[in-house]
Amino acid sequence: MPRLTSLVLLALPVLALAQCDTPSTLPSFTNDNLPDPFLFPDGRRTATVNDWQCRRSQLAALIQGYEAGSIPGKPTTVTGSFTKNGNSGSLTVTASQNGKSVNWANSISYPSGTPPAGGWPLLIALGGGSIPVPAGIATLNYNNDNIAQQSSTSSRGTGLFYNLYGNTATASAMSAWTWGVSRIIDALETTPAASINTERIAVTGCSRNGKGALMIGAFETRIALTIPQESGSGGDACWRLSKFEESSGSKVQTATQIVTENVWFSSGFNSYVNQLSKLPYDHHSLVALVAPRGLVSFENTDFIWLSPMSNWGCVSAGRTVYRALGVPQNHGFAQVGGHNHCAWPSSLTPTLNAFFDKFLFGKNVNTDFFSTNNVFGPAKWDANRWMNWSVPTLSGTASPTGSTTSAPVTTPPPTTTAPGTTTTPTTTTTANSPAQTLYGQCGGIGWTGPTACASPARCAYSNDWYSQCLP
Ligand SMILES: *[C@@H]1O[C@H](CO)[C@@H](O)[C@H](O)[C@H]1NC(C)=O
Repeated sequence: MPRLTSLVLLALPVLALAQCDTPSTLPSFTNDNLPDPFLFPDGRRTATVNDWQCRRSQLAALIQGYEAGSIPGKPTTVTGSFTKNGNSGSLTVTASQNGKSVNWANSISYPSGTPPAGGWPLLIALGGGSIPVPAGIATLNYNNDNIAQQSSTSSRGTGLFYNLYGNTATASAMSAWTWGVSRIIDALETTPAASINTERIAVTGCSRNGKGALMIGAFETRIALTIPQESGSGGDACWRLSKFEESSGSKVQTATQIVTENVWFSSGFNSYVNQLSKLPYDHHSLVALVAPRGLVSFENTDFIWLSPMSNWGCVSAGRTVYRALGVPQNHGFAQVGGHNHCAWPSSLTPTLNAFFDKFLFGKNVNTDFFSTNNVFGPAKWDANRWMNWSVPTLSGTASPTGSTTSAPVTTPPPTTTAPGTTTTPTTTTTANSPAQTLYGQCGGIGWTGPTACASPARCAYSNDWYSQCLP
């Protein structure tokens, strides 16, 4: 019965998904510390990479439920049209649903010469961006304010996104920007004339647009590299830590203040800004949504308003998920002073370029950059206080060190087989489990095969779903 078989096979993934509840709020939740990102609401802890996928969807739903508002999926129709004049391209995206339609043009500046096979890597830069872009990368100047205005609290519901979804949509400006980037990628995927490699896309922005860049990278998994710059509170800072910094005497931006300034968060968030312990997540979980994809954020300790201790504490807590997935080096952070807000200090260029090399050019380079100058106000980061949970090693991932150290071999007890049953030979993982051969798969979400490569090959991250042994 081939038809029945295929129906059963189709039903399996649906059942697996149905087991992952993703409520948008958890009304009885309370925790003064940074909530354990690995803890399911039912008390279980994340143990495998598959568990993390479910936990990740839960956190994504909660962040939308409490502060971001709903990010709609792909509308009925999304199309792209493209024109090019010299090195300047223009991609017009048209999104239509329920008899309404919006469109907007995005200018893309291209490198000179012939695009590599698969197209150019692309940097999507909110408001134009404020980082140096290496040669060989196209840059799309994303006019996010056109999708959702961010002038003041009175700009709520203004912009193309709300023309399509109505100005009572719960989506905050940052969620609307996320939706807009997703539609740009939809259009690029079906517009080969644009010559963009949609598996090599980065997103960046500074300050308010840095908050946006992090939100976009967190929710849009087609982004390979997320680069928030000086995103501060509302970005790579945690609400609870910023509040603590303020109560220790630093003039930092807090949740209470941020909702009176602009429309970066949903109006529903107003109810929580003075009871942060009720949030079943904090921004370390927003950081964690990006994992295992590339993320490098930059902060500036000269601007207290950005909440320096909170930045460092929050990314340190978020990085635990990268550690648990075995890819801590995919998460970078650098926090220095000595420059203006959103000015680029050249001392950070090697860090930035390493992340571009790895995630936009697919080079096997070292991205192990994670540091602070420790120039904080009176409040110091106390990991033991704020992170009172342990970091699991999720099974199904490459070990962080790629180490081949032998684990003790345990001999399984002899199994007794009931008469009449057939014994399927079981594969036992031994200390000498074979390494993957050159060009074989060595990692990716759901991968349970070998994660070490036969020497001298090294396991190179390609995307969330696939890592490969490369020379
Ligand atoms: C961590 O601290 C919070 C706040 O005191 C508490 O609610 C939570 O149960 C603690 N978690 C662990 C694992 O001890």
